Amino acid sequence: MNYHVLTLFPEMILEGMNTSIIGRAMAKGLLTLEAVNIRDYSVTGNGRIDDYPYGGGAGMVMQAEPVYRAYLSLTEKIGYVPRVVYLTPQGKVFNQEIAGELAQEKDLVFLCGHYEGIDERVLEAVATDFLSIGDYVLTGGELPAMVVMDAVSRMVPGVLSNQESGQYESFQDGLLEYPQYSRPEEWRGRKVPPVLLSGHHGNVACWRREQSLLRTLRVRPELLREAELDRKDLRYLEGLAQDPEMVLEKEKREFLIKLLAMKKKA
Ligand code: ADE
Repeated sequence: MNYHVLTLFPEMILEGMNTSIIGRAMAKGLLTLEAVNIRDYSVTGNGRIDDYPYGGGAGMVMQAEPVYRAYLSLTEKIGYVPRVVYLTPQGKVFNQEIAGELAQEKDLVFLCGHYEGIDERVLEAVATDFLSIGDYVLTGGELPAMVVMDAVSRMVPGVLSNQESGQYESFQDGLLEYPQYSRPEEWRGRKVPPVLLSGHHGNVACWRREQSLLRTLRVRPELLREAELDRKDLRYLEGLAQDPEMVLEKEKREFLIKLLAMKKKA
């Protein structure tokens, strides 16, 4: 996978990506990363790349031409028209599925905006994907680009060791991850759940699956609508919905009852 980032802050990208697992993958040549400074393509000759917005309003807008020239410098090198991801709160919300899809590409270009955004015409001309990393506004597209590159890189073959790749498996099927524990068995009066010490793989797997379901129901219940649930999962959830000890709040129970009715129909 070859990443190309169009940015006003190349050092932020290069330094931010050059650590830990992603740094290791770059050293191995599984990933490459270049950052192109849009300012180097200023058309006024003084490094200026922004101007006032037509129609008035606060802030400055990044001009189309410097962005376009920076983009052309890349496409000439790449030799084909690559996917260009523009990071913006107006984009589709990024998720694991999109990460998997982007990981299939040979090259990915990320376009990072600043100020009040980029002249719409150059976005029309070059951007193929508009992605947001969540419903909040950041000062620029660099952090979102790094977030997307990190999530995509994990899915590039060889980037994670075998051990590392199993780590987030359960998010893959649309559920939140179960809790993890390590030594000691008792820490400041808190004990590791006994099933994890039992050495019984089947029981451990079952407990983990139930914890994933319970956690997802508590924190992100909407994920359960799309999650792949088997008969055993449904039986566990039925048990929760009918639990006389009421481990769930009233709202969650009602949600669960509706969800189970929906899943049964499907
Ligand atoms: N640029 C500013 N905020 C952003 C967000 N939430 N996602 C993607 N790009 C952004």
